[in-house]
Amino acid sequence: MAAAAFPPPPVNTIDWSNVGFRVREVNGHIESHYSQKTGKWSPLKFVTDPFIRIHGMAPALNYGQTAYEGLKAFRTPSGDIQVFRPDRNAARMQHSAEFISCPPVPHDLFVDAVKAAVSLNAEYVPPHETGAAMYIRPQIYGSSAQLGLNPPEEYMFCVYVLPTGVYHGTHPVNALILDEFDRAAPNGTGSAKVGGNYAPVLRWSERARNQGFGITLHLDSASHSEIDEFSTSGFIGAIKNGEDVTLVVPDSKAVIDSVTSDSVQELGRSFGWKVEKRSIKYTELPQFSEVMAAGTAAALVPIRSITRRVAPTTPASIASTVKEHARLSSDSESEKVTFIEESQEDAGPICLKLLTQLKAIQQGKAQDQFGWNAAVSAADGSKVEGVPSATNGNGQTVDQMD
Ligand code: COI
Repeated sequence: MAAAAFPPPPVNTIDWSNVGFRVREVNGHIESHYSQKTGKWSPLKFVTDPFIRIHGMAPALNYGQTAYEGLKAFRTPSGDIQVFRPDRNAARMQHSAEFISCPPVPHDLFVDAVKAAVSLNAEYVPPHETGAAMYIRPQIYGSSAQLGLNPPEEYMFCVYVLPTGVYHGTHPVNALILDEFDRAAPNGTGSAKVGGNYAPVLRWSERARNQGFGITLHLDSASHSEIDEFSTSGFIGAIKNGEDVTLVVPDSKAVIDSVTSDSVQELGRSFGWKVEKRSIKYTELPQFSEVMAAGTAAALVPIRSITRRVAPTTPASIASTVKEHARLSSDSESEKVTFIEESQEDAGPICLKLLTQLKAIQQGKAQDQFGWNAAVSAADGSKVEGVPSATNGNGQTVDQMD
């Protein structure tokens, strides 16, 4: 029988015009296991069961010994599939794994696993025209039973994939600064994508969402005077001076090294803009003409406003520091910096220009001048164990969630 053409077309069981940001079942995921005894990762394996086998006493579950990554694959106008910057994510996962005493996932194993997971689920990469993507979620766990507070014997590396739209949508979003809760200690794990940087945020972001804030922002834990990052994504401020644009990103050791932010900074430089990586004082916020949240899941989100629950009379407030500013408003308990007025539903021109170019490169519509994209082929899926003969590229698997 002739091999099915690769890549297969997108499945017709998903409403591709409304993909959303939620879990959807696909063909399967990739796994590899590490044993401290052998010092080796096992060959990559394709597993159709979305439930993983992990001991209930695993430090992943008891002590939070987990880290993860997020990256995306896109379909180009000709239907080919490419992954955006897997090398950078491989390096970042090594950084995170070290923080939680997990063995590093070798670069090639990481990239091979990512490409295999995409290849073997290729029919779930959304159609090019939708602008949606396949979200890729590599994960590492301490997986064998371990009671004492020591690194366990065994580890697990998995790569899950699922089709998604963008997190936070595409419209401007109101942000709330979380002052009651510190995301990361000054010398802590803030720069690592470990579970412990995310779980404690859930109840705060849920509360903020119920109060009309789609995204939450963290200040530095030591002084609450500098901008760190959004709970889901990196912070980028833009200063416009006539035709000159400067992008400003926080220089903090408590923030994730965002691949999207790094890409946006490169694009900014290619437009002739300046990029500054430096500490950003909270009180500087009104000087930005635009603020964006940058992340894999989020892409580039225009921030409508940033609210902080401080009385304008407290010394930490912008109101007591810079007095009046056109972007600043306050009441007795809080102050707000507005970058996009309520009447406007579009992103600002700087965000729009960056996002348009970023998406064009990711989707294969613009020349990939930085060499960011990695092509995915049928061969990427055939290198791994456990592939059922009908999986790769036949496009017949039913999306069980729809
Ligand atoms: C991503 O942007 O990929 C992340 O991992 C952030 C997560 C909160 C969705």
